[in-house]
Amino acid sequence: MIEKIQQLLSEVEAQSVTNADAAEAFRIHYLGRKGVLKDLTEEFKAVPNEMKREVGVLLNTLKNEIQQKIEGAKGDDQAVATSSGADLTRPAGDLPLGSRHPISIVRREILDIFSRIGFTVCEGPEVEDDWHVFSGLNFPPEHPARDMQDTFFVEGEDRLLRTHTSSVQVREMERRQPPIRIVMPGRVFRNEAVSSRSHCAFHQIEGLYIDKDVSFADLKQTLLYFAKEFFGKAEIRLRPSYFPFTEPSAEMDVYWGLETEVDHRITKGTGWLEVLGCGMVDPAVLEASGIDSKVYSGFAFGMGIERIAMQRYQIGDLRMFFENDLRFLKQFSSVS
Ligand code: PHE
Repeated sequence: MIEKIQQLLSEVEAQSVTNADAAEAFRIHYLGRKGVLKDLTEEFKAVPNEMKREVGVLLNTLKNEIQQKIEGAKGDDQAVATSSGADLTRPAGDLPLGSRHPISIVRREILDIFSRIGFTVCEGPEVEDDWHVFSGLNFPPEHPARDMQDTFFVEGEDRLLRTHTSSVQVREMERRQPPIRIVMPGRVFRNEAVSSRSHCAFHQIEGLYIDKDVSFADLKQTLLYFAKEFFGKAEIRLRPSYFPFTEPSAEMDVYWGLETEVDHRITKGTGWLEVLGCGMVDPAVLEASGIDSKVYSGFAFGMGIERIAMQRYQIGDLRMFFENDLRFLKQFSSVS
């Protein structure tokens, strides 16, 4: 047996194991379950006691030799990698992080601004009924928004995709009594041709504040706070407007300035950015949802997130938000 082991030793020494694949084959041949060493161990059992020591030492030498060859092959692999110029001590690069969608970034920031002054977030269903989108909000039966041209009906007259987040106002007013101080983000749908300035699905954030003695001055102050926080601008104006569910109604513009060419473009040469619609909740709307309009009053506002994101990031085409083109989305990767 001694001879056999010595022969194997010289055989192992003579072999060159240079890469990981060869090392694995080599390992299986000698150390595997049915390998050479397994047989030797069996044979070793039959060695007479007085020879065991000598043979055992030799067997161990063979085992070590085999192991060293395998280790050596791994080392060779690293050496090859090093000579190819790779620096194996270099820390791994950053894991690729996804980026937030610009709509999510703006949505979060707006909700955050209002949450700092006590507004909590509420959501409602996208598939609605006529009451929550129109009737409960004082839309007269002949109002054009109720028309097939503007509204997507799901089935019949009373299942439709909400055309604005004002529907969530109605749901919340029905559910509880004032004080109510909420912001309501969500997706809305209108039957409009898709173009660079309009889309059939987009996002809004609605605000509602109802309590005793809420006045137009409160609305104005709240919007001024928002303009300062979000746009960093301290000048706003309220232009008279009309919504069926608010009286009086207004559109809020923020003074942006007219210094650069971009300023001209995004303000259409006026210096003013159109930001949102708002007004005092019409007493008839409060009453329709079971709130006593002699005790309570409130204001509401609603804004389109896409429009605000377009202004903020100078995006010229609304469709970019929906195409999920990675070249577009990656530009927002450093923004949280
Ligand atoms: N719902 C209105 C719209 O979609 C916006 C709005 C909300 C106006 C709340 C006034 C008060 O245009």
